Amino acid sequence: MKKIIIEPFKIKSVEPISINTEKERQKIIKDADYNLFLVNSRDVIIDLLTDSGTGAMSSEQWAGIMRGDESYAGSNSFQRFNESVKDIFGFQYVIPTHQGRAAEKILFEVICKKGDIIPSNAHFDTTRANIEFQEAIAKDLIPDRFKDTQSEHPFKGDMDIGKLKNLIDKHLNKIPIIMMTITNNTGGGQPVSMSNIREVSRIAKEHNIPLYIDACRFAENAYFIKQREDGYSDKPIEDIVAEIFSYADGCTMSAKKDGISNIGGFLCTNDEELSNRKKDLLILTEGFPTYGGLAGRDLEAIAIGLREAMDIDYLNYRITSTSYLGRKIHDYGIPILMPPGGHAIYIDAGLFLPHISKEQFPGQALACALYLKGGIRSSEIGSLMFGRNASHELVRLAIPRRTYTQSHIDYVIEIIKEVYDQRENIKGLKIIKEPKFLRHFSAKLTIIE
Ligand SMILES: Cc1ncc(COP(=O)(O)O)c(C=O)c1O
Repeated sequence: MKKIIIEPFKIKSVEPISINTEKERQKIIKDADYNLFLVNSRDVIIDLLTDSGTGAMSSEQWAGIMRGDESYAGSNSFQRFNESVKDIFGFQYVIPTHQGRAAEKILFEVICKKGDIIPSNAHFDTTRANIEFQEAIAKDLIPDRFKDTQSEHPFKGDMDIGKLKNLIDKHLNKIPIIMMTITNNTGGGQPVSMSNIREVSRIAKEHNIPLYIDACRFAENAYFIKQREDGYSDKPIEDIVAEIFSYADGCTMSAKKDGISNIGGFLCTNDEELSNRKKDLLILTEGFPTYGGLAGRDLEAIAIGLREAMDIDYLNYRITSTSYLGRKIHDYGIPILMPPGGHAIYIDAGLFLPHISKEQFPGQALACALYLKGGIRSSEIGSLMFGRNASHELVRLAIPRRTYTQSHIDYVIEIIKEVYDQRENIKGLKIIKEPKFLRHFSAKLTIIE
């Protein structure tokens, strides 16, 4: 392999970034009450808030958008979308939705009831919220040894098989479905190994429990399997993806991630009866089953984006550029969740700012410091987001797909190092106003002087 892995694309259309000054950002962040969700994107230099729906579409996708057939029923765009999803994932029934959480809402409304338990390696927060909305319990089964942010393991997203067996032994009748999230977003974008998926599938089948995959970052996960798991280095990504999903009974997907689209999602299943019940719900909230809350042009973009996400040159660049950022700051002594994940780097703000206690939101304080120093927007995943339930104080730097070049990433590295060198000057924050639910989106904070 070549030493320098270049961005495997040329830039055809550009969006300007306005470069503001630190003095201007001081006022902006104060006016936004130290909450980066309340900062306007025009005031952000590098936006690493999320990798969801923020990627750049290809010229092929834009061409597909022009081809979009906006017929209410049975559009050509749906046929192309349906073919692409079936071909890649191998399920019989495909239901389009406006994004991932809509697929989750329909799945759990149909499949689970009050008091049920849904195990997963690690549920994403919308998945958890949709399960809890049905008054069921979302259970994460990550091995305890993976909870140390500094330990390295090739598949830190694996489910703990022992914990799964215990749960089934105790509560078999309460488990309507097992979920697996690939890659594990809340736990650092860490991949799940094929052997773990295969074993979970075997156990699920033995007990007659359907296995569904949260497929958001399926291509990135497949790439990690190719790189790290014995027996896969010579296999094409498409074959690895097909094998992953051959072990499952269905999947939920946010096309805003590895669909490299700005909106969209879908739900797949092999169960005809379930699919019919899901479609009944779909009509109530999303729309007719051949568009499901999406325009025909969105279906086209997804059909093409899903294939582009499996391109090996793209994946080489994608995973290498994320790990480039992670390794460079890690080598400087900055504590990050190791090893670097697929779509994001997670700084351990608890270790970065040991002088700031959990109660003073070290993650949010660090996210604000990165914004102040360099106009970089990141997101806190810690006590502000999860309250007392936070297991870590993390700052996530999520990399949008095909959007930033290496010099943007070098700039991010430079800013993080500068902030690290001056970390003693960073102060904690306190909340002055917060909403009842999901407070991190709109809470107002101030600096503790
Ligand atoms: C693992 C995972 N599952 C589900 C979702 C929800 O998808 P959406 O934002 O499209 O509703 C996300 C979004 O970030 C995610 O990362």
